[in-house]
Amino acid sequence: MGIWTDIQRHQLRQGLIPRHVAIIMDGNGTWARRRGLPRTAGHARGAEALRRAATEAATLGIQYLSVYAFSTENWKRPPEEVAYLMKLFGQSLREKVPELVEQQIAIRFLGNLKKFSPTLQKLMRRAEQKTSRPAPRLTVNVLINYGGRAEIIRAIQKSKNKKVSAATFAQYLYTAGLPDPDLLIRTSGQLRLSNFLLWQSAYTEFWFTQKCWPDFNGRLFRQAVRDFQKRQRRQGGLA
Ligand code: FPP
Repeated sequence: MGIWTDIQRHQLRQGLIPRHVAIIMDGNGTWARRRGLPRTAGHARGAEALRRAATEAATLGIQYLSVYAFSTENWKRPPEEVAYLMKLFGQSLREKVPELVEQQIAIRFLGNLKKFSPTLQKLMRRAEQKTSRPAPRLTVNVLINYGGRAEIIRAIQKSKNKKVSAATFAQYLYTAGLPDPDLLIRTSGQLRLSNFLLWQSAYTEFWFTQKCWPDFNGRLFRQAVRDFQKRQRRQGGLA
């Protein structure tokens, strides 16, 4: 990394670093189509972009990174694409765990995991166990077979017959114990939430870029954090 990158990071650390950043990794297919490549090639490059993003997040001192890897609606995609994504998840889990351990990054999988193959479920559980530690530099939450509305309905069912406040209700969500995201990044020019972290993003700052997810890099991540630092977060009160 160059000196300019170090200066940028140093400057960002003078300001408020978001504790929790959420990302909608959109545009893998578009990235591939523009290059005349199959959509799957976009997903493969997307996995590399995720690795870069996790490294940058850990370097900046972000504590939680939550990424939308597969929604409850993504099963509707062509079977070959779904199969490829499952293969990519499995392969990443088999290969990347030692690197996560070395970087002191913990990984967790949030969503309805029962829909995945027993092998993949086992790989996910094993990755969680192997990377689990008392004080990780960063925790990456991979939201997989996740949908915000389904999560809220599940939480209502779990909290049945109990008196709940906003704080106690949050304990029934997949994100129990995590702070709400401070910043949500969405790539590929779409300006919507697409059923991601509906409850948790009530006061989240949004940041959008036209760049497709495979092109996301540390420089763009730092730009998002710099823009976040310029926002005034009032959360309903006065500045
Ligand atoms: C959105 O692009 C991306 C996805 C549905 C999958 C996200 C998966 C990865 C980034 C792969 C790596 C993840 C892990 C956990 C190894 P899109 O296909 O919707 O793109 P489009 O909108 O251009 O069609």
